[in-house]
Amino acid sequence: MVQAPVKMTIRQEYEERFAGSLAMNGRARAVIPGGITHDGRHLKPFPVSVTRAAGAHKWDVDGHELIDFAVGHGSLILGHNDPEVTAAVRAQLERGTHYGAGHEGEIVWAEQIRAMIPSAEQVKFTASGTESTLLAMRLARAATGRTTIVKFEGHFHGWNDYAVKAEKPPFDRLVNPGVPDAALETVAVLPANDVAAVEARLAEGDVAAVILEPSGASWSMIPLVEGFLAALRELTAKHGVVLIFDEVITGFRWAPGGAQARFGVAPDLTTLAKIVAGGLPGGAVAGRTEVMQVLAFKDEPGWNATKRVRHPGTFNANPLSAAAGTVCLRKCADAAVQERCDALAAGIRAGCNAAIARRGVPGIVYGESSVFHVALGVTCGNFAGGDLRFPEGVDATTLKGGSGALTGPLQVGMLIEGVDLFSGGGMLSVAHTEEDVERTVEGFDRVVGRMEEEGLFERDAEERRANADQKDSGSLEPSQNDDPLAAVRAFRERFGSQIGGVDDFIADKQAHIAQELASEEQRAEAEQRAAIHRVRGSFADVPGGSVEDFIAEKQREKQREWEKERRWETGGA
Ligand SMILES: Cc1ncc(COP(=O)(O)O)c(C=O)c1O
Repeated sequence: MVQAPVKMTIRQEYEERFAGSLAMNGRARAVIPGGITHDGRHLKPFPVSVTRAAGAHKWDVDGHELIDFAVGHGSLILGHNDPEVTAAVRAQLERGTHYGAGHEGEIVWAEQIRAMIPSAEQVKFTASGTESTLLAMRLARAATGRTTIVKFEGHFHGWNDYAVKAEKPPFDRLVNPGVPDAALETVAVLPANDVAAVEARLAEGDVAAVILEPSGASWSMIPLVEGFLAALRELTAKHGVVLIFDEVITGFRWAPGGAQARFGVAPDLTTLAKIVAGGLPGGAVAGRTEVMQVLAFKDEPGWNATKRVRHPGTFNANPLSAAAGTVCLRKCADAAVQERCDALAAGIRAGCNAAIARRGVPGIVYGESSVFHVALGVTCGNFAGGDLRFPEGVDATTLKGGSGALTGPLQVGMLIEGVDLFSGGGMLSVAHTEEDVERTVEGFDRVVGRMEEEGLFERDAEERRANADQKDSGSLEPSQNDDPLAAVRAFRERFGSQIGGVDDFIADKQAHIAQELASEEQRAEAEQRAAIHRVRGSFADVPGGSVEDFIAEKQREKQREWEKERRWETGGA
C-alpha cells in the first residue's frame, strides 16, 4: 500500500532545513549566555545564523536567501552595504579608527544632525541608544535640579537602570532583577494617551523630564492618539519639565527630521542612535543649547566640580561611525527615502491584512511610517482588511504582547518562506523592492494557512480566553503554575454547577494534549485515558484519584510546553 507523504509541521520543517543554524546555536550557547547577543533575537526552537548581507537581503549558514526586515535593528534605512556609506568607512579605515582627539568628522556629523533635526541646537555623541537615553535623563535632572523621570507604559528606551521600568507587561510589575529599587523609585510610569494623568503628575513639582517614543511604544506598537505630543509639549513647558523625544528609531525614519518634524512638535532633548551612525555603533543627544550646556566646561567658580555633567566614553563620535553617519544622513535628508520606505511598509500592512481577512483568522498588521507590527490572535474594531495605523479597542498590554504565543511559529514559518521578521514585525529600507513586498505577503498568507491547519489559532484563542477568565475572576492566581491541582480545584469551584462546562474544558485540554504528544505511544495513552474519562461521566462525580491526577499531570506537562513556546517580545530593537 502506498502511504500518503507525511506533512511536516512548521517547526519540524524549520529544524530540518535550518540545521546549520541549529548547530551554530549549539556552539553559541556554550560560550554566550542563551546563545544570543540581543534579547530581541530570542527565537524558539533556535534563531537563524547569518553569514552575509547585501541590500535588503541576507544569507544564512544553510545558504537560504532571506528578505531582511530587521535591517540592522532599524539602523540600515539605506539597506546593507550602501555603496557610499561603505566607501566612506573604507576611506576612514585607511586614515585611522580612533585618534584619542577631536576631529573634523565629528563636527561635520553634528552639523548634519543640526541641519536635519528641528530642535537640535547642539549635539553630544554617545556609543549607543541606551547611553543616549541615560545621558538625556541625566542632563534633564542636572538642568532642573529635580529627580523624577516620567515614562510611559511599554515605551522602550534601552536597558539602562532608569529605562527598564514598565517596558513589558504587566506594566505594574516592579520586578527588574539587578536594578536597585532606589533607581526604579525615581521613575514614574503613566499610561500613554492620558493627558490628565500627566498633568496631575507634573503638578507634584518633582519631575525633571518626560521621556517617550514619539511614535508610541516600540515604534508605534502602542500608537499615540493625535494631539498627545502637543499636549505633552504644552504641559512640560508649563511646569518647567524637560521633554525628551526618544528618536532612536524614528530619527531620520519618520521623516528626515524625525517624528518631531513629521508631527510638528519640538522637544527639548532628542535621543538618537541607529540610523544616525549609518549602521555602525553610535548615538547622540541633541537639543536646546541651554540644556546641553550643562555638559560644557566653564570658567565659573565651582561649575566644573559641582554643576557640570560628566560625560566621557571611549567610542563617542569615533571616526568610523562619524564617517558612516554623515554620509547616511546626507542621503536621508532627501524625503524621497522615507516616502519610499513608507509606501513599501503600507503595502505589507495592507497585503497581510487582506490575507488575514480572506482566511478569516484573528489577526492584525498595523503601524505607521516605514514599519509594520503583526499581532496574530488579536482583533480590533476598525479592521477592514486594508492598511491600519491605530487598532481601535485593543488595550496596551495586548498590543505590546504582539502575536504572543503565535510569534514563534509565525517567525519560524516566515523564515521557511525566506523572510526574516524582526520582533514579530519589521522595518523597511530603500533597498527593499515591490517584489520583496509581494513575496512577503504571499509567504505570510501561506504561513497563516499552515498555522491554521496546525490548530495554533484555536489553541491561542483558548489560552487568551483562559487568561482573560483568570483576570476577571481573580480565582486562578498565577501560583497555579506551582500547584496545578489548585487550578483544577479553583476551576471546579467556579464551574461546579456547570458540569458540561467542566467536561468541555477537560475534553478540549485532552484533545490538545493528545495532538501535541510527540510519540504514538503517548497519544494512544492519552486517548485511552480520555476514553476512560468519557465513560466515567462527569468530572464532578469522580471520587478523587486517577482522573484528577491525570489532569493535573497533563496540565503540568502542558504548562511546561506553553512556557517553552511562549515568547515575550522585547519590544525593543
Ligand atoms: C526607542 C529606543 N530607544 C533606545 C534604544 C536603545 O538603543 P541601543 O540598542 O542602541 O542601546 C532602542 C533600541 O532599540 C530603541 O528602540
